[in-house]
Amino acid sequence: MKNILVTGGLGYIGSHTVIALQQAGFNVYIIDDLSNSQLEVWEKITAITGVQPIYYNIDLKDYNAVSVFFQSHKIDGIIHFAAYKAVGESVAKPLMYYRNNLLGLMNVLEAMEENQLDNFIFSSSCTVYGQADTMPINEMTPLKRPESPYGNTKKVGEEIIEDFIKITDKNAISLRYFNPVGSESKGLLGDLQIIPNNLMPYILQTAVGIRESLGVFGNDYETRDGTAVRDYIDVNDLADAHVKAIQRLLDGKNKSKLEFFNLGSGTGSTVLEIVTAFEQANNLKINYEIKPRRAGDIVQAYADYSFAKSELDWEPKTPLQISMQTAWKFQQQLDKVIE
Ligand code: WQD
Repeated sequence: MKNILVTGGLGYIGSHTVIALQQAGFNVYIIDDLSNSQLEVWEKITAITGVQPIYYNIDLKDYNAVSVFFQSHKIDGIIHFAAYKAVGESVAKPLMYYRNNLLGLMNVLEAMEENQLDNFIFSSSCTVYGQADTMPINEMTPLKRPESPYGNTKKVGEEIIEDFIKITDKNAISLRYFNPVGSESKGLLGDLQIIPNNLMPYILQTAVGIRESLGVFGNDYETRDGTAVRDYIDVNDLADAHVKAIQRLLDGKNKSKLEFFNLGSGTGSTVLEIVTAFEQANNLKINYEIKPRRAGDIVQAYADYSFAKSELDWEPKTPLQISMQTAWKFQQQLDKVIE
């Protein structure tokens, strides 16, 4: 049984990936410092799969702690999610984001080298493309300076990995997600954003009555209905892609030492189309009001995932309606916990 380390494994995409790895027969270790996750997610993963992953509360900025972990565990592959990811917060606190996201990454890479470990998967983002000039976005689309320090930690992170790979015999894959949505089928896990950053948590908190109404950031874009277009990809499909990517490296099937894959649904949806999809999927109404555009937002982004389809044998399978329903299940289950 291969041992896979998932850093940030108690987070949103991380926890769903832990479940997919366990269900694919891997033995999973989790490192998570709980700075943007909750310990109860560990119990929920165990409840869902019946297998308790081994968990350590380690701050990846502490090199010695990372090194001790790698010296005492035989790790066959690493999936690195651990990073801060709030775009707005990153604008207000850039150094906190660069220190956490990049020092954490560098410590993991250095400890890999020190312990002769290989097979590294990096959690990246379509934000590295900025506002791409042409749609859909493929892996050859030129990168641009991301609008936020968060986004720049992903772009610089990829460059750090590239330079590291050049001087070592390691193999890595960077997965560039578009906009993750949804939850696993029981609604036990989800994108826990008490103070939301992203569209879906705002929609969910409006639907459950925590918020009076949803602010729609701008309806004067050059799009179908004036609201911005994004590619919403189900988190379970994202998790499956991570299993396929680590398996590709373990099997030595990668065609270069560093590969990049866009992971999206291939479909662009406007903000209002997502609101309507959520309403129809869950048979409810969302109050919303048009607000000014949000600084730093791009107009549109949606993926060409054909490279992941051909090389990873991956494609998105979950209909948007299901993602809207599982997201709603998660929000309602949250309230039960709070009660
Ligand atoms: C989506 C659309 C908003 C909230 C960022 C990161 C990306 C990834 C996902 C981590 C935009 C609009 C939002 C609201 C709104 N991060 N919106 N009202 O900015 O596309 O991407 O989060 O995985 O790397 O860059 O996502 O969900 O914040 O916004 O109208 O209350 O919804 O303007 O058009 P974004 P988002």
